[in-house]
Amino acid sequence: NCPSRRAVESGELASVVKEKKLDNSKIQYLEHTSIPIKENGSITSILEIVTDITERKRMEKLALRAEKLSATGEMSAVIAHEIRNSLTSLKLIMQFLGDSTKIPEKETNSIKIAMESVYEMEGIVTELLNFARPRAPKFIMRDIKQILRESNSLVRYQIEQRQIQHDEKLSPGIPECLVDPDHLKAAFVNILLNSIDAISDNGKIIVSANLVTLSEPVLDFFSEQQINVKLNEGQTVIQISFEDNGCGIPDTDMDHIFDPFFTTKTSGTGLGLPMTKRVINEHGGVITVESNDGDGSIFKVFIPYRE
Ligand SMILES: Nc1ncnc2c1ncn2[C@@H]1O[C@H](COP(=O)(O)OP(=O)(O)OP(=O)(O)O)[C@@H](O)[C@H]1O
Ligand SMILES: [Mg+2]
Repeated sequence: NCPSRRAVESGELASVVKEKKLDNSKIQYLEHTSIPIKENGSITSILEIVTDITERKRMEKLALRAEKLSATGEMSAVIAHEIRNSLTSLKLIMQFLGDSTKIPEKETNSIKIAMESVYEMEGIVTELLNFARPRAPKFIMRDIKQILRESNSLVRYQIEQRQIQHDEKLSPGIPECLVDPDHLKAAFVNILLNSIDAISDNGKIIVSANLVTLSEPVLDFFSEQQINVKLNEGQTVIQISFEDNGCGIPDTDMDHIFDPFFTTKTSGTGLGLPMTKRVINEHGGVITVESNDGDGSIFKVFIPYRE
């Protein structure tokens, strides 16, 4: 597959892209082009051009990903909408049957179970629709500590049931900040629920929040590598971290956890983290994750301080 040989043999331009593994396990893409130079119809020399196209490859991947994301979103919305309409009629019919006095006792129990499934499906469909057509954020001045406390209390039941130790370390020095409280709460609750799901026994979740001045830039998490510097050194941010001692995230999953519909759970939808990331990004913030497989995870959220 040598382009020089092909150029000599065919008399035409030939090129090939080669992948080279670098020490830091990243891949460098090199495009090797050979152009035959002719004099009086015969080849006298070959011009060889080697270009590093790693950056172009990366941009292509990003564009493809963005396209895939928006296609996924649109498709979800259409499907969710159709299913919701059908569910509504199903629900009405079952409500009618459930209220009927002609149906024997033991059948009404089956109807109740079927009804619960319908509610569950409605929940999934609503989650899908919210993901595909989220409402625009409304920013107001709020205390992030308060939003964190409310998020924690929304998952208190699961935490108590699973006897998970739960520590809150919220620095009193955090001032109010411009945020969308409902969006942020949904994002925080998903991170917490993921931690709860990841824990088997002797569970521990530590939530902390601090106002910090960044001593180095923080890069947004994006599959395969951390790119797109979002927050710069010297910037004041509210840093929130969620640390658990659950099962951790295998390296092979790391690239995918923010992809829509990626889930390792039997009853998961895989929309929690993509939604979470979108909410954090709409606040101009960044989410990062660190995990040692089998040894817990830390999700860090950085929200730029805005007043
Ligand atoms: N704290 C964590 N510890 C271990 N794995 C995690 C953690 N958080 C996320 N994951 C992994 O990332 C995957 C994607 O998470 P995400 O919240 O997007 O979807 P989900 O929790 O599976 O489903 P959903 O949130 O839609 O109900 C999870 O299935 C799990 O494998
Ligand atoms: Mg989740």
